[in-house]
Amino acid sequence: MHLSRKVVHSPRYAFDILYSTAERARAKGIDVINLGAGMPDLPPPGHVTRALVDAIDEPSSSQYPPSAGEGHFLEAVATYYRDRFGVELSPEEEIVALHGSKVGMSRLPLAILDPGQVALVPDPAYPVYSSAVHFASGMARLMPLVAANGYLPDIGRVEAAQRDTPARLMFLNYPNVPTGVVAQRSQLASLIKLGLREDIAICNDAAYCDIYYTKEPPPSLLEVDGAMEVGVEFGTLSNTYQVPGWRIGYAVGSRRIIKALKDLEAHLDSGLFRPLQRAGSSALTGSQECVARYRSTYRRRRDLVVLGLTRLGYDVLTPEAACYVWARVPLGAGSSEVFCANLLEQCGVLVLAGTALGHHGEGFFRVSLTAEDEVLEEALRRLEVGTAAGARHRSGGIGPR
Ligand SMILES: Cc1ncc(COP(=O)(O)O)c(C=O)c1O
Repeated sequence: MHLSRKVVHSPRYAFDILYSTAERARAKGIDVINLGAGMPDLPPPGHVTRALVDAIDEPSSSQYPPSAGEGHFLEAVATYYRDRFGVELSPEEEIVALHGSKVGMSRLPLAILDPGQVALVPDPAYPVYSSAVHFASGMARLMPLVAANGYLPDIGRVEAAQRDTPARLMFLNYPNVPTGVVAQRSQLASLIKLGLREDIAICNDAAYCDIYYTKEPPPSLLEVDGAMEVGVEFGTLSNTYQVPGWRIGYAVGSRRIIKALKDLEAHLDSGLFRPLQRAGSSALTGSQECVARYRSTYRRRRDLVVLGLTRLGYDVLTPEAACYVWARVPLGAGSSEVFCANLLEQCGVLVLAGTALGHHGEGFFRVSLTAEDEVLEEALRRLEVGTAAGARHRSGGIGPR
């Protein structure tokens, strides 16, 4: 049977590989502590779960919903943007509901690019951006995220490359995974100005905008002047309300981009299960105290892991947001992949090799904070007595901006 070259020649999805790695290790009898993937692990808010259950009894719950989202859900997203960011949005024209933000972001290149056109993709990053460009027959041009530039794209370098083959789409992810860096409003403004100057649609993945440790909450791309012309932001309830399996997301921003995404939704999808939209509305418009509690849990875990790894001699970037710690592979411990394989084999601790997120992840590994304190403490104990006991501080590079 013929299979498309796009499928046959695409690398295996990084988190699929991670899953198989954990399964293989377990089959070999290793007691695996899995800190590789980042699966939100706290119980969802009770009032949100109740809203979902109650909505199932509504007579229309099993019918097809409108593909772009029900009015109340789009209103709820607008309310959230007004309360959280001070951004006014038109529910009809500037918001679309999605089966999680991954689905929406993977459709975005189809909405923006013609075959062969270029999209700018950060490296290291969530692998979905480059996969989405690949499946839309686009070309990904990588933007290295390095400490020297505060883990932000180098605008001069982007502009220089525009002269050859202009990019028409840029993926951003702030708050950033894997580094945990929060972009300042002024930095987002520079990227929007670039988009306006060079005719590049600017997409921000804001999946972790509510899991932050900074005094000020991270800004939205849409707070910036001009963002409604070229910008689109993807949001999700997965992390904010700890419901990754429910698949509730949305995109907001430029009317033209939202219209294009809605058109694609209508062709390729049939909308979000109505009870999930009810639950989503309840989450977005209800008390946000639960989110503050999630933040404080993740902050405690972050401090535990950052302190623990630092005590063991690792060079660690303290995240300002999200639920991951990005750390350097110790000197002499081999490549990211070799180091992580040894850690699993010898300590039973599974972390993500930086290279799973791109070439510029070489020399790094990522620890997920989606496990209870005792599990994280046990992982640190194992690291202390395992191969990593000899970890030496690797100077330079990762530190504060
Ligand atoms: C950076 C980032 N963006 C987006 C997502 C996907 O979120 P959703 O559950 O809404 O598809 C993830 C999930 O792992 C993520 O790590």
